[in-house]
Amino acid sequence: MSRLVVVSNRVTPISGSRAATAGGLTVGVLAALRETGGIWFGWSGETVETGMPIPKVFRTGNITYITIDLLQADFERYYGGFANRTLWPLFHYRLDLASFDRDWYVSYRRVNQLFAEQLYPYLRDDDLVWVHDYHLIPLGEELRQLGIKGRIGFFLHIPFPSTEVYVALPWHDRLMEALSHYDLVGLQTSNDLRNFHDYLYREGVGYGLADGLVRAFGRTLRAQDFPIGIDTEDFARMATSTEAVRASQRLSRSLLGRKLIIGVDRLDYTKGITERLRAYETLLQNYPRQRTQVTLVQISAPSREEVPEYLEMRRQVEAASGRINGLFGEFDWMPLRYINRGFTRRTLSGFFRLSRIGLVTPLRDGMNLVAKEYIAAQSEEDPGVLVLSRFAGAADELDGALIVNPYDIEAVAEAMHRGLIMPLDERQDRWRRLLAQIQERDIVHWRQNFVDALAQEIDPTN
Ligand code: F6P
Repeated sequence: MSRLVVVSNRVTPISGSRAATAGGLTVGVLAALRETGGIWFGWSGETVETGMPIPKVFRTGNITYITIDLLQADFERYYGGFANRTLWPLFHYRLDLASFDRDWYVSYRRVNQLFAEQLYPYLRDDDLVWVHDYHLIPLGEELRQLGIKGRIGFFLHIPFPSTEVYVALPWHDRLMEALSHYDLVGLQTSNDLRNFHDYLYREGVGYGLADGLVRAFGRTLRAQDFPIGIDTEDFARMATSTEAVRASQRLSRSLLGRKLIIGVDRLDYTKGITERLRAYETLLQNYPRQRTQVTLVQISAPSREEVPEYLEMRRQVEAASGRINGLFGEFDWMPLRYINRGFTRRTLSGFFRLSRIGLVTPLRDGMNLVAKEYIAAQSEEDPGVLVLSRFAGAADELDGALIVNPYDIEAVAEAMHRGLIMPLDERQDRWRRLLAQIQERDIVHWRQNFVDALAQEIDPTN
């Protein structure tokens, strides 16, 4: 069997303080790699002022981690600039927040080249190389230029935007061409895949073939959707662990019998947190009987604080939280607990299990694994209700949730109310359906499907 070599910008074994801010990528990749073993290559999370990077190699269990530091200047332009101020907002349909800067693009390409050069000596001919996410789109092309002929696949964890939005990127054709050097391009949903095909067709640079293949820039590759899942059983177990039970008992005592509504996200403008708070405010406004009967705990772990848009967003969330508590609070009840720090996934699983409603209402999201974790954590006797944005990739699969348009504040407030008064048998029916979905399409399913598709030969005559 071929060895799996995973490459991603962030290589963080999930432990310590970053555990709660870990996005879907780290959670998903770690769960997948633990099963197969292999190499995980990427940025160490450290920056240096000068010098050439020297890879650090360490092994934990069956995974060999190889990490490199980045030059501070590259980190600022490649990660803080091109990845997080150009691609991230653009791919999440926030053209208004996207900045375009040639120096950032140059640095992005340079870091990808550097990653390829540093990874190259570790690669064997029959490795399956699996590159992750928008930070590393050109990596496959760079590896090909170094002479790597083996199978290289790419998976995009965030949405692939519609052509109209994507072509605003001055380097849209360069990045698409870079993608054509992979043997396999994986996207989260059928909608992302449609957008990918649409670009090729509309820009006249390619077209779809049979069996998931596409022709792009004179090359034939496979392009498919692979919705990422979670380790469902593992997360369900977490929710009944001692740590989870202790934390949820503590929270429960403080609620004094009130129903818990919970939201957990990285503090990111794509997550729709300010809109969610407005919806909560509307709930309290439109359904006065719910006042003093509910508590919203909004946990927003700090993220990418070096990016100015994130600081601005933090200010907005803080202002909205203060306003809601000021408007509706009583001397013995505060409607909202806004917490600007992360918790371990174990603790969160306990909070999910205790809650009546889970709010996952991003304005745009590749998948959103919190939605799936929320389902996995519930108890059969008294499951909570998932209120899920139609703009999260997860909404494609999770039709047992209350699907909402996060921009429609009144509708989100109504969905919250519906969840609060939903009879037990309906909650159970919905939850069983949701659970079956996340059990069937779990992390193993995702990894196996991707790796099998990557290993599959492509008929060059196709
Ligand atoms: O899932 C999307 C993603 O950007 C991942 O690539 C990343 O690891 C995660 O969110 C957290 O973001 P960051 O690595 O920038 O802290």
